[in-house]
Amino acid sequence: MSTSTTITPSTTAIRQHWVIGNWKMNPSLATAKSLTEKLSENLVKTTSLSRCKLAIAPTTLHMLAIKSILEQASAQIQLVAQDTAITRNTGAFTGDISADLLKEAGIEWVIIGHSERRTIHHEDEKLISQKIRATLDTGLGVIWCVGETLEQREAGQAMNVVTAQIQAHTDILTNIDINKLIIAYEPVWAIGTGRTASPEDAQQMHGSLRQMLTQIRAELNQTSLLYGGSVKSDNAYLLAKCPDIDGALVGGASLDADSFLQIAQAFDIA
Ligand code: 13P
Repeated sequence: MSTSTTITPSTTAIRQHWVIGNWKMNPSLATAKSLTEKLSENLVKTTSLSRCKLAIAPTTLHMLAIKSILEQASAQIQLVAQDTAITRNTGAFTGDISADLLKEAGIEWVIIGHSERRTIHHEDEKLISQKIRATLDTGLGVIWCVGETLEQREAGQAMNVVTAQIQAHTDILTNIDINKLIIAYEPVWAIGTGRTASPEDAQQMHGSLRQMLTQIRAELNQTSLLYGGSVKSDNAYLLAKCPDIDGALVGGASLDADSFLQIAQAFDIA
């Protein structure tokens, strides 16, 4: 959306690349299983990835079935939960699933702060902070989503909004194990709309995010920063060229094994 064309790297260090599929509330069990089988088969037989790790976030209900398929195929794909409870306690929390229960099921990461949870479930920074803490205390990693709405971007507020979303949790960032942290910049106006941020806009936000994180703590310079919002196999290569974009959090295109693996190949760059 900007007219700028200059892409300036803010760091040259090697960071972990990730492509993560957020399946949201989409596939039925049968579809989820066949998608996992196809992904596993293609990954094991034809797609070799060296730098980019893969993960998928099916609905929690399907997790055990998906895990068993991945294990049988020896496919290196990590499991991500789409949400967790605000507490590690057992007890009267109808409908919730704690991070401990997710860990027991073999899940390694939890998506927190996704715009769909912020909007549909009115999740605010206080609740997001509780979920991040419960997840980290359990030893799982956090895929922490930030991003501005279209109105906020058009009002010139994108950077302020994202800054506030990060700075609300400075206390967590000061101590976090950076191997347990992935941050996904997902502009809300790009999610499911087919309207991807331009590589320049995405890089600009990612570069600023990295600077912001580094100011909080030097090691956070190495945080994997993913872009999310209408990432497809045909736009992934340009996004992957941006020096501060370390991968993608993919919705719609992750429901097709070929597209998802093509996106992973785009980010499998040295
Ligand atoms: P789409 O790739 O469908 O735009 O979804 C992005 C997203 O919300 C991933 O978390």
